[in-house]
Amino acid sequence: MNNLVVVGCQWGDEGKGKLVDYLGEKADIIVRFQGGNNAGHTIVIGEKTFKLSLLPSGILRDDKLSIIGNGVVLDPWALKKEIDLLEKMGITISKNKLMIAENVSLILPFHKELDHLRENLAGAKKIGTTGRGIGPAYEDKVGRRSVRLSDLNNPILLRARLERSLTHHNVLMKGYNKPEYSISQIEDKLKEITSFISKFSISVWQELNDKKNKNKTILFEGAQGSLLDVDFGTYPYVTSSNTLAPAASIGSGVSAKRVDTVIGIVKAYTTRVGEGPFPTELVNDKVGEHLAAVGHEKGTVTGRERRCGWFDAALVKQTCILNGVDGIAITKLDVLDGLKELKICIGYKMNNKSYNFLPTGADLEKDIEPIYEIFEGWHECTVGVSSLEKLPKNAIYYIKSIEKYVGRPAYIVSTSPNRNDIIEIKNPFER
Ligand code: IMP
Repeated sequence: MNNLVVVGCQWGDEGKGKLVDYLGEKADIIVRFQGGNNAGHTIVIGEKTFKLSLLPSGILRDDKLSIIGNGVVLDPWALKKEIDLLEKMGITISKNKLMIAENVSLILPFHKELDHLRENLAGAKKIGTTGRGIGPAYEDKVGRRSVRLSDLNNPILLRARLERSLTHHNVLMKGYNKPEYSISQIEDKLKEITSFISKFSISVWQELNDKKNKNKTILFEGAQGSLLDVDFGTYPYVTSSNTLAPAASIGSGVSAKRVDTVIGIVKAYTTRVGEGPFPTELVNDKVGEHLAAVGHEKGTVTGRERRCGWFDAALVKQTCILNGVDGIAITKLDVLDGLKELKICIGYKMNNKSYNFLPTGADLEKDIEPIYEIFEGWHECTVGVSSLEKLPKNAIYYIKSIEKYVGRPAYIVSTSPNRNDIIEIKNPFER
C-alpha cells in the first residue's frame, strides 16, 4: 500500500484530525514531522471528543505505532499533560505505541516567555502566534543552541547545552527587563520530567528505515497549513516550520523516495487564525457569521475565533503545486448547507493587473481584490451523506468546480465531524 503525506492546503484547521484518523485506520505507523503543540486536531469518536496537539492521531488506536519525528519542537510538559488527559479518557500510551526522535529539539520555559514578550511588544504588528514558544524554539534549533531529547540523560552535555542557550536568552531577558534564568533552575524543572519522557526516546530514522518496517504503511501527518509555511506561506504571518509535504522526509528521517502519495486537505470554505492577509475574508458579513457559527470556527489550541471567508481556489491551486498534491479531501461541506449563493475565488486583481496566484509580499496581498465565480447553493442537509450521488446536484457541481479550479481530483469529501461520515471517491492508499 502507498505511504501517504496528509497536509493542509490552506491556513490550517482544515479538518486534518478527522481525515488523518480516518486514513490512519489503514496505516501501520503515523508520524508527526513538524510543528509542535501549536497544532490542534479534533477527533470525534462516538460520544467522545479528543483534542490532540502534539500526539499523532494514531495514538487513539491500540494497534498503531505513533511517532514524533525530529522535525517537531517538543514541549515535554505539554506532552505529559496531553498523555495524562488521554489516559484519563481510557487511552493507554506505552513506549511500544509512542516513539519520539531522540534528536527532537525541546521547547523550554524561556521560549514560551520570549514568544509572549515579543508578541506583546509588537502591538498591532503582532503575528498572532499561539504563544507556545514555537518560533523561539525553531530559532534555537537553527541557531545551534537547542536542548534535544537525548541530552536529558547526559547531565554534563545538558549543562553545556543550557549554558549555550542561556547565554543567548539571558541577554534577551535583560533587554526585556525580565529576570534571567539560571542553569540549575531549568535543570531542576527538566529533572521532573526526564524519566517520563525519556522512555519514549529512540532513533526514529533507524526505526523507520529498519527492515522490519520496510513493508509497513506510513501516514505522515502534517500540522498547520501550507499557507503558514515559513518559506512559501504569507510571510511573516506564518509559523516557523516548513509545513509542506516535502518536510515529511527531513522531519522524520525517511527517504523522500518512500513517500508515494500526497493528500491535500481543504475546507469547503476558508478560515484563518491569527494576523495576516486573507483575500476572501468575509468581515462583518452574514455569510461569514454563518460559517463561523455552523462550522464552530474556534481554535482548538487557543480558543480564538477563526476568521472566515469564501473558498480560495487560486491559493489552493498554488499550494497543491507546492505540495505535489495527488488528490484533495474536501471537509465541512455540510457547513455550506442552506446558503443561497456560494463564491469561489479563481484569481485576483491588483493595480489593474490580474493574477492567478498570490503575489509575494504582505503589503501587496492587503490591496488585492479577489475575482469570484458565483454558484447556486443548496437547501438540502448534507450532514452524514455517504455517497457522491446522494449529494444535492448543486453540491456536486460545487465539488466539481473546486476540482476544476485547483487542478486536482477530490478523493474524499467529509460531511460531518464524525469518524464515519465520509464519501470516499478514491482510496488514496491504492495506486
Ligand atoms: P505559531 O506557530 O504559534 O508561532 O503561530 C504562528 C501563526 O500560525 C499564527 O497565525 C497562528 O495562529 C498560526 N498557527 C499555528 N498553528 C496553527 C494551527 O494548528 N492551525 C491554524 N493556525 C495555526
